[in-house]
Amino acid sequence: MEAVVVDAGSKLLKAGFASPDQDPTLIIPTKMKRVVEDGDMVDSTTFEEVTVDPIVRGFIKDWDAMEDLLRHVLYTGLGWEMGEEGQILFTDPLSTPKSVREQLVQMMFETFNVSGFYASEQAVLSLYAVGRISGCTVDIGHGKIDIAPVCEGAVQHIASKRFEIGGVDLTNLLAQELQKTNPHAQIDINEVEKLKERYACCAEDQSSFNNTQTCQKEKHTLPDGQVITVERERYIVGEALFQPSILGIEEYGIVDQLFRSISSVSPELHRQLIDNIVLCGGTASMTGFEDRFQKEAILCSFMRPSLVKPPEYMPENLPKNSAWMGGAILAKVVFPQNQHITKAEYDETGPTIVHRKCF
Ligand SMILES: Nc1ncnc2c1ncn2[C@@H]1O[C@H](COP(=O)(O)OP(=O)(O)OP(=O)(O)O)[C@@H](O)[C@H]1O
Ligand SMILES: [Mg+2]
Repeated sequence: MEAVVVDAGSKLLKAGFASPDQDPTLIIPTKMKRVVEDGDMVDSTTFEEVTVDPIVRGFIKDWDAMEDLLRHVLYTGLGWEMGEEGQILFTDPLSTPKSVREQLVQMMFETFNVSGFYASEQAVLSLYAVGRISGCTVDIGHGKIDIAPVCEGAVQHIASKRFEIGGVDLTNLLAQELQKTNPHAQIDINEVEKLKERYACCAEDQSSFNNTQTCQKEKHTLPDGQVITVERERYIVGEALFQPSILGIEEYGIVDQLFRSISSVSPELHRQLIDNIVLCGGTASMTGFEDRFQKEAILCSFMRPSLVKPPEYMPENLPKNSAWMGGAILAKVVFPQNQHITKAEYDETGPTIVHRKCF
């Protein structure tokens, strides 16, 4: 049986058997609704739906919910049989606390009884997905931005940066902006997220952003029949990545951050990093983002940076699922070559083995 690869994000969990040139078979929201158990006294008139978020800003926070989610993914979604569990590879976000890595490997061996385990960093995996072992990844997901220079498959941790800004903050920003321009509309936050994915975009540069004349006004009918207008809000959302002060955050913009990160690596490694910049994560697929990024990057550096184009043989959604796809590539190597953690090794050493075997 092929190993399973799981990239559990703050919004979407990607999972599937390792098949490197395909999309993951399962892409499902990580957020879940809590079902009230039989016998509980619930007055349906006062019952409020409770949602649980097992993963917050990239890290597993609610372990019971994570266990339920993985049970669903592995047994129902992917068809693992109880008692015949296979091998599994997880993707780790940048700066994952040691305790989280240990608890995950423990849950996998002790609760799920997996036959083998491996974990690897998302930044390294996203590079593998585009056929590189060195480069710099800029992963803009739902809960965080991870900027990581990687040399010969090793993340340069001192130079890496993690920011707690992501798609969720852009959704909230769009909700605020739409409230100002459509004060009478009542828009559910899930609907705002869909509007963001459809309309949000990046202006060509800061001066076109400042020029409000360039905005096209769109009318949009919500599922409940309300009609709203979407105009400059679309650009404000994209601009927030380049000017985080729009979100009330005193940080440099994303391109500046990338170059600050690269400049803290030894100079002889700069060329290989600048030549292999990989933009990934769902938020990076926003309309106009790549062009704006490229334009600012060229202005920022005299070394003429270049963004890696996804190889043609890879699926179209590669930038959105690159950590999972890199995981699928790696799984094809680590499990057959016995580089993973086996059940016997886990039993002998315990959860700390993850730091020794998976790096
Ligand atoms: N076209 C688009 N424009 C803007 N945002 C988008 C677009 N498509 C997807 N997104 C956003 O991308 C985010 C999901 O991306 P991704 O799957 O990389 O995140 P994640 O892996 O779940 O989270 P994280 O890695 O931060 O823990 C969501 O916020 C989603 O709204
Ligand atoms: Mg992610």
